[in-house]
Amino acid sequence: MEHIVNMKSLTTEEMMKIIELAREMKADGIRKLDRTYYVSNLFFEPSTRTKSSFEMAERRLGMEVIPFAPESSSTLKGETLYDTVKTFEAIGLDLVVVRHPRDKYYEQLVDHMDIPLINGGDGSGQHPTQSLLDIFTIYEHFGKFEGLNVTIAGDISHSRVAKSNAESLKRLGANVTFVCPDEWAGEFDYTTDLDAQIENCDVLMLLRVQHERHDGDGLAFSKWEYHRQFGLTLERAERLQEHAIIMHPAPVNRGVEIADELIESPKSKILTQVENGVYVRAAIIKLLLKGRNE
Ligand code: CP
Repeated sequence: MEHIVNMKSLTTEEMMKIIELAREMKADGIRKLDRTYYVSNLFFEPSTRTKSSFEMAERRLGMEVIPFAPESSSTLKGETLYDTVKTFEAIGLDLVVVRHPRDKYYEQLVDHMDIPLINGGDGSGQHPTQSLLDIFTIYEHFGKFEGLNVTIAGDISHSRVAKSNAESLKRLGANVTFVCPDEWAGEFDYTTDLDAQIENCDVLMLLRVQHERHDGDGLAFSKWEYHRQFGLTLERAERLQEHAIIMHPAPVNRGVEIADELIESPKSKILTQVENGVYVRAAIIKLLLKGRNE
């Protein structure tokens, strides 16, 4: 593993290696790396959990985190992403994490970089570390992927999480079904009937309605109507299988994708996903730096 930019670039063996190391770290603690490494998290889009989760993982690994805020950087003077990343490399960073609103921004970078790049999310493209923490959370609960019925419901076409998880979960042997309004299906086969899936799914993964990416293609119906047709209502939650789990990458639009009362309910893994993100990201960083040193 040289960089982690999308799920296609990882083999199933590499995914399982990350999961295994994250499991070890969760059980035994995150140990510091053999020396001090320098990292920066270049986030050009808002983030609560991905950025702070990376920073927590980096600090627990004993890394020095070099601060970066686009609003006080030379980005405002017109500096390109390429020049920003090459500048950080020249300053002496060992690894860089980037989130950027442009789909596949990393394609112009990776062939020119001497340090590993981790994609923290590119536009509506990919969010590989979210997918890895999602599959870790599923594996932790079920101990397998083969044959699991995973229903992913929501704003599919705008979701980098949906695309990343479609790639990883199908490859690992899960049956993935997409549920969404006709307007938001994108490239995927889908159904609009969440009720037909609810009693059969092992994992119900809800996706945020991404208002900020709706360039005039927003929904014609209200939040209430979306919740009624595509959301996890209290009534639908009653019909989930006993062993089923509820996931959401968050942030959550409360009362839209999921009823308020269900966010911290026993079946919900939403905060476990956040917790697991730290271990998965620490595992990824450790493996990337190890690969670079070999
Ligand atoms: N799940 C996720 O990517 O959340 P943030 O946008 O808060 O990082």
